[in-house]
Amino acid sequence: MTDPLASSAPASAAENVSLRPHVEGREVLVCVCGGIAAYKTATVVSRLAQAGARVTVAMTPAATRFVAPLTFQALSARPVHVSPWDHHDAMDPQHIALANRLDTVLVAPCTMDCLARLATGRADDVVSLILSAVDRTKTPVLLAPAMNVVMWNQPATRRNLTTLEADGFRFVGPGSGWQACREVGEGRMSEPEELLAAVAHACGGRPRR
Ligand SMILES: Cc1cc2nc3c(=O)[nH]c(=O)nc-3n(C[C@H](O)[C@H](O)[C@H](O)COP(=O)(O)O)c2cc1C
Repeated sequence: MTDPLASSAPASAAENVSLRPHVEGREVLVCVCGGIAAYKTATVVSRLAQAGARVTVAMTPAATRFVAPLTFQALSARPVHVSPWDHHDAMDPQHIALANRLDTVLVAPCTMDCLARLATGRADDVVSLILSAVDRTKTPVLLAPAMNVVMWNQPATRRNLTTLEADGFRFVGPGSGWQACREVGEGRMSEPEELLAAVAHACGGRPRR
């Protein structure tokens, strides 16, 4: 079987990119799941904001155990979505308006659990709920998996990756190398530069509103 991730990352993803022309004024949703790599996502949000993107952050309950929502609120200068039940916009109880105005979505880190939820169409946390309302034929959704090498190679994960690719999700990474669990192997989240290049690439492919 061909690896569904092999052709997903842009060719020169790790190279220096000038972000601003690609992301300025774009609405970017960054979803954070519960993995150690969540700390790297703070850099991604900061860089996008510095480049003039309009960044909204959504976090799973597990993600809030790794990085405080306040960090992302400060970096994005916007409220952080941490629950389906806290409404930032009273007119948008299902986050439909947010989903409709997005140019690009990045899920980083995307956990094994989140891959499983997305592959089975769940919408029972704020991240999967917002993503359930995103039309991927119009708005690219980039998943940046991050997990232990054994989790990455589980048959369930491989099945979910195949399903997600068929369902129109795109992937950035993962890479291979040192993991927080002190193993070395595949499943390490892509570095911020590569994630930023993928977001810039995805935004660049969309007409400006
Ligand atoms: C210290 C610690 C580190 C973890 N790191 C990861 C990880 O890197 N990748 C992953 O898929 N799960 C990891 N997990 C497990 C997830 O946090 C767990 O599956 C959780 O249910 C994920 O929820 P979410 O997908 O809603 O964020 C870790 C758990 C702990 C306690």
